[in-house]
Amino acid sequence: FTAELDSTDIEKGTYPHFMLKEIDEQPFVIRKIIQEYQNENDEIKLDPEIREAMKNCDRIYIIAAGTSYHAGLLGKQFIEKMANIPVEVHVASEFSYNMPLLSEKPLFVYISQSGETADSRSVLVQTKELGHPALTITNVPGSTLSREADYTMHLHAGPEIAVASTKAYTAQMAVLAILAVDTARAKGLELDFDPMQELGIVANAMEALTDQKEDLEQLASDYLPTTRNCFFIGRGIDYYVGLEGSLKLKEISYIQAEGFAGGELKHGTIALIEEGTPVIALATQENVNYSIRGNVQEVEARGANSMIISMKGLNKEGDAFVIPHVHDLLTPLVSVIPLQLVSYYAALHRDCDVDKPRNLAKSVTVE
Ligand code: G6P
Repeated sequence: FTAELDSTDIEKGTYPHFMLKEIDEQPFVIRKIIQEYQNENDEIKLDPEIREAMKNCDRIYIIAAGTSYHAGLLGKQFIEKMANIPVEVHVASEFSYNMPLLSEKPLFVYISQSGETADSRSVLVQTKELGHPALTITNVPGSTLSREADYTMHLHAGPEIAVASTKAYTAQMAVLAILAVDTARAKGLELDFDPMQELGIVANAMEALTDQKEDLEQLASDYLPTTRNCFFIGRGIDYYVGLEGSLKLKEISYIQAEGFAGGELKHGTIALIEEGTPVIALATQENVNYSIRGNVQEVEARGANSMIISMKGLNKEGDAFVIPHVHDLLTPLVSVIPLQLVSYYAALHRDCDVDKPRNLAKSVTVE
């Protein structure tokens, strides 16, 4: 596998859709990232200027849109938990109206698959005018956001053609995890986490999942054949993966899908649960396993058709799908795969144009 642009990257080959091909490429992309961000001494290979910028800032502002925003929410967890730097994550199109009070030494991190999203670019222009440093994390190093920022980190995911983002999302999280660990080490923090080893385990887990397509196709036809809506619930980092799962489903199958924090259900959303409403619950975190399962019981008592996606070691009888065990913080890279595939098959069953959903563009260059 090579992330350089060659003809096999922009052809579907034996795949019926780019989206399915790109879902399957995820383990290879993670291995490519491990290779690209490691030197011959097995140390993290990173532009020393990025390391300095991360070390010297007192707060990070992540700016992104769509799926990249969802990766940013998880990037915040990685950076805060490992590198001990406060992080704010902002939807690019809202930033100007709700501009937060900035810290003394802010670092702006732009996450964008295409590097061309106008909403993100307009924030970059604004923060550059204010004199703040910017790092762009993108799949297209020559893109506008890459050229106009001070530093760039490349996703090495290869061209992503399907409008719905899959491999760029997991690549963004992998790169953010590496960045978080590198910063922690540069700051001399103790860390019991080897990112390359853990990402290697993630790549193997991803590979195992992409071989379970038939099971996921079955789940899509059992749970989502004719439904108008679907809810995703999770707590902690599972909540953020649920947001991405719901975006995937709505983008390509046109099922109205929403992601909610498990604890927020009772504050409103539960009113929407009817007989047969599909609810997809993520249960990959030990500290919330008990409470998210409680939320599932609450929706089931109101008639929901619930599907639990859990992680090996935390699974219980009756769970619809169990992902292999990976490091707690990296579960999103794996748990999103069943959500991507269930969305894909739900869209296929509805005869939707999977790679080019109506009304959407791969790269949105207008504000
Ligand atoms: C569009 C795409 C989404 C993508 C978003 C941000 O809306 O349809 O899939 O997540 O833009 O794109 P970016 O290239 O900035 O990551």
